[in-house]
Amino acid sequence: MHYSVPVKGKVHWIGVNDRRKRLFENMWPLDRGVSYNSYLIVDEKTALVDTVEDRAAGNYIERIEKLLDGKKLDYLIINHMEPDHSGEVKAIYDHFEGVTIVGNVKTFKIVEAYYGITDRLLKVEDGDTLPLGYHNLKFVMTPWVHWPETMMTYDFTEQIIFTGDAFGSFGTLDGGIFDDEINFDFFEEEMRRYYSNIVGKYSNMVQKALAKLNGTPVNVIAPTHGPVWRENPKKVIDLYDMWSRYEAEEGVVIVVASMYGNTELMADYIGRKLNENGVKNIRIHDVSRTHISHLINEIWKYKGVILGSCAYNSEMFPLMENLTRELNHMKVKNKYLGIFGSYSWNGGGVKKLMEFAEDSELELVAEPAEIYGKPSESKYEKCDILAQKMAEKILSK
Ligand code: FEO
Repeated sequence: MHYSVPVKGKVHWIGVNDRRKRLFENMWPLDRGVSYNSYLIVDEKTALVDTVEDRAAGNYIERIEKLLDGKKLDYLIINHMEPDHSGEVKAIYDHFEGVTIVGNVKTFKIVEAYYGITDRLLKVEDGDTLPLGYHNLKFVMTPWVHWPETMMTYDFTEQIIFTGDAFGSFGTLDGGIFDDEINFDFFEEEMRRYYSNIVGKYSNMVQKALAKLNGTPVNVIAPTHGPVWRENPKKVIDLYDMWSRYEAEEGVVIVVASMYGNTELMADYIGRKLNENGVKNIRIHDVSRTHISHLINEIWKYKGVILGSCAYNSEMFPLMENLTRELNHMKVKNKYLGIFGSYSWNGGGVKKLMEFAEDSELELVAEPAEIYGKPSESKYEKCDILAQKMAEKILSK
């Protein structure tokens, strides 16, 4: 990046875009890249809020120096230690002599473990304040959104909240930085994919953080990924509230694991029957083709999920097993569930999916639909019932 952007008051956005990294956390595809947002407050005292990933830093330090215009950097505030934000902590600590790192007791354990830094630390606790001159900051502990040490920094003066991963999104900032400068359609899918895959497991802690912030006047939400919200911060708060309560839209995702097409025929049949029963938002995905991060995103989006697996060595298909393990790991709940599958020897796919159903917090809507061999008209009765029951649940108010 070769530019910085004023946010409000004496606050500047100094983030970077990463279009080279292919997998976030070495797991989640970054088809549209990602931004790491960092903020610099150039006040009587100066403060940097979070840094960026080291491999994407580019001329980050030069940009800070340009904005400081000869002033020294007084504070580096660390809201979150995951290396996509703490990657430049050591470089900042070494480069800006005398800078004090601001964090909580859990932050500093990781600061030492990652970077060997044990001095020039200012430990803060929930509600502590830090005056900079014009701006006056308060620290709000929000553990597990997304790591145990995560906190937020609130500026009383301009009512800006620096939220770390919360309210973040995949996707680079391609010119537009603020919500009023972008087309949100581009970001909504990527924001939900980010939420459901990265933060969603801690939805109860997101709810706690939202409750803690309730009543705090907010003009600007400044997360560490994706757009900065200044025109309509309520929009992104409402989205996070909805997602962290596992509220979903009317629709059904069918994910199918099929080797030679028999189970896939069932998926198409169930999709058609759902539609005949009045459901319009129906998405059918092949678990072998669509990356699990997109599957989790769509499952988070819709009220209904129907999982189908062929039998594979008397088990469910391995990629479906991976999906079910991840759904349990993410603690997905408040959804309606259907199960189907086919087999050629002695089954196993549906049996294992039913074990997942019992372990999950999802509501099974009907008996599983299982077919021996190739599906045909005479074998589809349980698929009809599954589609009908699911549609009733999805369409009921
Ligand atoms: Fe964007 Fe949890 O790091």
